[in-house]
Amino acid sequence: MPVRSIAVFSVKGGVGKSALAVNLAYASAVTSARRTLLWDLDAQGAATFMMRLKPRGSHSARKGIAEGELDQLIQSSEFAGLDVLAADRSLRHLEAQLLDDKAKRLKKLLRTFDADYDRVVLDCPPGLTELADQIFRAVDLLVVPMLPSALSMRAFAQLQDHLGREHKQGPKLLPVFSMVDRRKTLHREALAEHPERLVIPYAAAVETMGQSRMPLLASQPRSPAAKAFAAVWTEAERSLLKG
Ligand SMILES: Nc1ncnc2c1ncn2[C@@H]1O[C@H](COP(=O)(O)OP(=O)(O)OP(=O)(O)O)[C@@H](O)[C@H]1O
Ligand SMILES: [Mg+2]
Repeated sequence: MPVRSIAVFSVKGGVGKSALAVNLAYASAVTSARRTLLWDLDAQGAATFMMRLKPRGSHSARKGIAEGELDQLIQSSEFAGLDVLAADRSLRHLEAQLLDDKAKRLKKLLRTFDADYDRVVLDCPPGLTELADQIFRAVDLLVVPMLPSALSMRAFAQLQDHLGREHKQGPKLLPVFSMVDRRKTLHREALAEHPERLVIPYAAAVETMGQSRMPLLASQPRSPAAKAFAAVWTEAERSLLKG
């Protein structure tokens, strides 16, 4: 079976992508027993940090991507079936590299994982960049967290528009509301506009992932936010299996 890939992506920054990516990767490996690779594509390395890993000193992630040699960059996590391709600062220069590079580099790299993994979860940096376009050509599903606000929903509409124009064969889309506070009228209104959309609540427990450095699904599986992450995974997996 070819590997199936999910990118956690949004045009906007700070909407909970990395928190979601780490939990989706955990759910894939532990709940669904899929051989899973979490690929941290953001030079900030938030997902890498939350998995208690560091980049391997001697190898640069950018160079690995450029040369198609990712094996040495992959590390096992403390969870069975879950490996991590760590980010490092070299990824700051990935954009420049991709611009004068092959447009389908990422797609080709993902194919090299067919034998070893069932699922790849990519944690993406924000922005509609060249890297984003490569991601749209490469992955099967985009999970797009957004705040329940007019501007965030507008940014999502712009993303849909971009995909419709430039990536007609592009990935499926799974939009989810993130950091939702139902005490806020504007949040309730946005949810009412899209009653079908999955919701991740605003929760202090998610913020503590920066201290615990563990997926919330591992540290507090019964918390409402962990259950919300699990529900996003169920929906993502359903979408992938539909083909
Ligand atoms: N559901 C949530 N409830 C409360 N805080 C959250 C939630 N999701 C994420 N956060 C917090 O918000 C901050 C940003 O989250 P995160 O790093 O996951 O966002 P991001 O979209 O990956 O950001 P960037 O665009 O910089 O990569 C972090 O401090 C995180 O702990
Ligand atoms: Mg992030």
